[in-house]
Amino acid sequence: MDAIQALLSRASAAKLGEPAPSDENLDTILRCAMRAPDHGRLRPWRFLVIRGAGRRDFGDVLADSLRRQTPHASDDMLERERAKAMRAPLVVCVAAAVRHDSNIPRIEQILSAGAACENMMLAAYALGLGAMWKTGAAAYDDNVKIALGLTPADSIVGFIYVGTSSVPPKGQPQIDSATLVTSWPPVAS
Ligand SMILES: Cc1cc2nc3c(=O)[nH]c(=O)nc-3n(C[C@H](O)[C@H](O)[C@H](O)COP(=O)(O)O)c2cc1C
Repeated sequence: MDAIQALLSRASAAKLGEPAPSDENLDTILRCAMRAPDHGRLRPWRFLVIRGAGRRDFGDVLADSLRRQTPHASDDMLERERAKAMRAPLVVCVAAAVRHDSNIPRIEQILSAGAACENMMLAAYALGLGAMWKTGAAAYDDNVKIALGLTPADSIVGFIYVGTSSVPPKGQPQIDSATLVTSWPPVAS
């Protein structure tokens, strides 16, 4: 797929199912992620690939997080949280392992990890796969980071769910670019 066409038409998948990306497609998606702009070439990204039965463990981590944050969460709420891990056959947790021994600002390292997420979204789409970028409270929970082998100093920037889109993508919203794009300095009228 042409790059501009992919950029202009990409949409999040509304629902994902099997099959999971092949190993070859996953490798392509991750290599695209690692082409994200990266000030100082710090490679501040971490990619945790969760699939198959590993998703059940991930679901338990999500449910534990909700239980800690909402002690009165009902069994239904906990089950819904656990089920999020099964939204797709494959999930990649993308984190920024911010290097504090560098003079590159923390925000730029986190932005680089966000750019890696977007590269993954676009790569999946261009390969004919579907993807969703999710965070939620769990992404900001230190206990979740530790359970996933990260440290509290790391920032989870996305859980990228990847699979096969089982419903047509949503339509593209109209965006009034005139409210978002201006010339600077303002042109005198
Ligand atoms: C950092 C980040 C976190 C997000 N987290 C969530 C989330 O937790 N739940 C959700 O429904 N959408 C989340 N979104 C938004 C969706 O991924 C998606 O971009 C949005 O629904 C617009 O759909 P589109 O990608 O098809 O334009 C997040 C987006 C970003 C950039």
